[in-house]
Amino acid sequence: MRILNILNLLGTAYAITEQVSQELLDLHKNLILNPSITRNETLAVDFLSTYLQSKGWNVELQDVINKDINPDIKRQNIFAYLNDPQDVKMILNSHTDVVPPYVDYHYTTDEQGRDVIYGRGANDAKGQIAAQITAAQQVRSADPEMSKSIGLLYDLGEEGIFDGAKHAQDNLPPNLEYFIVGEPTQLEMISGHKGNMGFEIRAKGLAAHSSSPHWGVNAIEKLSEAILKLESVSLPHDELLGDTTMAVTKISGGTAMNKVPDEAVAYVNVRTSVPTDVTWQVLTETGLESEWIEIVLVDEPHNPVILDTVDNWRPVQTMPFGTDLFAWKHPTAKKMLIGCGSVSSAHKLDEHIYKDELVEGVDVYVELITGLLEGTLKTSTTKQEQAEQHKHVKDEL
Ligand SMILES: *[C@@H]1O[C@H](CO)[C@@H](O)[C@H](O)[C@H]1NC(C)=O
Repeated sequence: MRILNILNLLGTAYAITEQVSQELLDLHKNLILNPSITRNETLAVDFLSTYLQSKGWNVELQDVINKDINPDIKRQNIFAYLNDPQDVKMILNSHTDVVPPYVDYHYTTDEQGRDVIYGRGANDAKGQIAAQITAAQQVRSADPEMSKSIGLLYDLGEEGIFDGAKHAQDNLPPNLEYFIVGEPTQLEMISGHKGNMGFEIRAKGLAAHSSSPHWGVNAIEKLSEAILKLESVSLPHDELLGDTTMAVTKISGGTAMNKVPDEAVAYVNVRTSVPTDVTWQVLTETGLESEWIEIVLVDEPHNPVILDTVDNWRPVQTMPFGTDLFAWKHPTAKKMLIGCGSVSSAHKLDEHIYKDELVEGVDVYVELITGLLEGTLKTSTTKQEQAEQHKHVKDEL
């Protein structure tokens, strides 16, 4: 049934011609060739805003001011629309920044004869931007009226600081109904992902000469005991997102080889499947703390994200890694996450995407845009209920 639909689409107004396919590849290439390592996104943002303007989009640039970043670096979110922001019902979104280091663009054919594109951002997330814009352009040429409902929003700072997404909240179009985020999900819809939080286990001791350790209290030993205790902590579970997990990811302590250390610290990263305050409450009630041990929340905690999905459409999955979707606060817009390519190579030196994944990405985005705006695709509300339940748990504690 669905294959027939796609064939119908391909046979009609939305077919991807050679020319469109070439434009898609050119856009993707230029996005990669303009570096945008997170915190220094200027080149890719300048390229993309000029590109959209040249295609006749109205482009608003939002200055993202971050006091922790060199003010000489111009950092801007891009918001583009065709007619009036009031008309925008649907935003296609992804992020312009990428993780370091820069990896150059390289187009090749693999042993199976598939065209494959290497380079930083090939899938995370410049491939998403190229596929979304090409899809929006396809809809525009087939149905100019419908395309007035589409907005493009490309924020920066997604790889770790999230300042672009936070800033964008104040400038969302007033009549927004759908918010579609592109990350490499192999074109499966994501129903949710875990939250992220970090805490330190801080151990204190009493310094002493290491030849007389009994006169001191060894902070490293206290810390080791606390870390071992973590194993017996039972963390909250969520039906949709599964277990909350944690990992000790950094450790330090001691200053000299002949001194019983009076300080030691471990950092614990938690991927939480329930709201962060619930997980934190569990952790504080485990008896980890003592005369010598303190646990302290560091970094800004991010709650799990529950998303909307489309009924009877693509496969639906949860996802183990995070996005900046926790920052999207719009009270009524449906939030969806879907994109082309696989996250398995994202952030790696061999980051890549196949040409046919990009092209299929365009097709799937066209299906999603037209289906939602025409009303032939319906979003599922079960996850909304799940989000309500999350809120409930929070209220009770
Ligand atoms: C920002 O990135 C560009 C392109 O890689 C580079 O030339 C420039 O030196 C960077 N600026 C800073 C302040 O790091």
